[in-house]
Amino acid sequence: MSIAKKEYKRITTKTLVDMKQNGEKISMLTAYDYTMAKIVDNAGTDVILVGDSASNVMAGHETTLPITLDQMIYHASSVIRGIERSLVVVDIPFGSYQSDPKEALRSAIRIMKESGAHAVKVEGGKEIKESVKRILNAGIPVMGHLGLTPQSIYKFGTYTVRAKEKEEAEKLKQDALMLEKCGCFAIVLEKVPATLAEEVAKSLTIPIIGIGAGGGVDGQVLVTHDMIGMTHEFNPRFLRRYLDLYSEMSNAFGNYIADVKSGDFPNEKEQY
Ligand code: KIV
Repeated sequence: MSIAKKEYKRITTKTLVDMKQNGEKISMLTAYDYTMAKIVDNAGTDVILVGDSASNVMAGHETTLPITLDQMIYHASSVIRGIERSLVVVDIPFGSYQSDPKEALRSAIRIMKESGAHAVKVEGGKEIKESVKRILNAGIPVMGHLGLTPQSIYKFGTYTVRAKEKEEAEKLKQDALMLEKCGCFAIVLEKVPATLAEEVAKSLTIPIIGIGAGGGVDGQVLVTHDMIGMTHEFNPRFLRRYLDLYSEMSNAFGNYIADVKSGDFPNEKEQY
């Protein structure tokens, strides 16, 4: 059992801000289903993100764009049934908050009401300011997401590191400050230079959770299927694999198939 698990019975948005103040790093992982959420929660993970990366990982799409609000709600409600301690944050999917603040609020309310999630996450800065404010005004906690925001992949045209140039770095800093001032409880910074991410983390009171943003931020997030090696084609520099489940599972399936074919499975003890 982790130390953090003993200290906090339930993680709230306030717990995360307290953690930053106390210099305690925040752990965040993705989950999209009940079984995985139960394991991730039980291990003591502070935040579970029902990411729209479900579009890639669960549905096999090339980008996060195709996943729908209904599908996100399905994943989120499965995750909620598996957790006891983690804060569950759900991505509002592409096309469900960008067109106007009323639509953004409607989408956020559906996620909170129909899944039982604790907070929502949105991608972008000043372009979505009014939507962020509208959601927050309704009492729904919002996590921001800046840097390489995958819902804008067709605008970027590449998955390379963002904000390396001064102009984009300046905009990112302003966007982060704006999100804090609006009342967001945390911000994910994805694939940006470590020095920039550290500067942002030091200048804000809300936690900055990084993915490919170096160690100078307040917490880290990884896609669970990547960090346990269930996926194996995706190999960015920032990814640390803690298991090689692709090989382990392939071996297990191979052994099962061989046992079925040879008649070794089931044996006498495995039947009635
Ligand atoms: O959808 C997702 O999994 C994410 C993380 C990569 C931060 O947004």
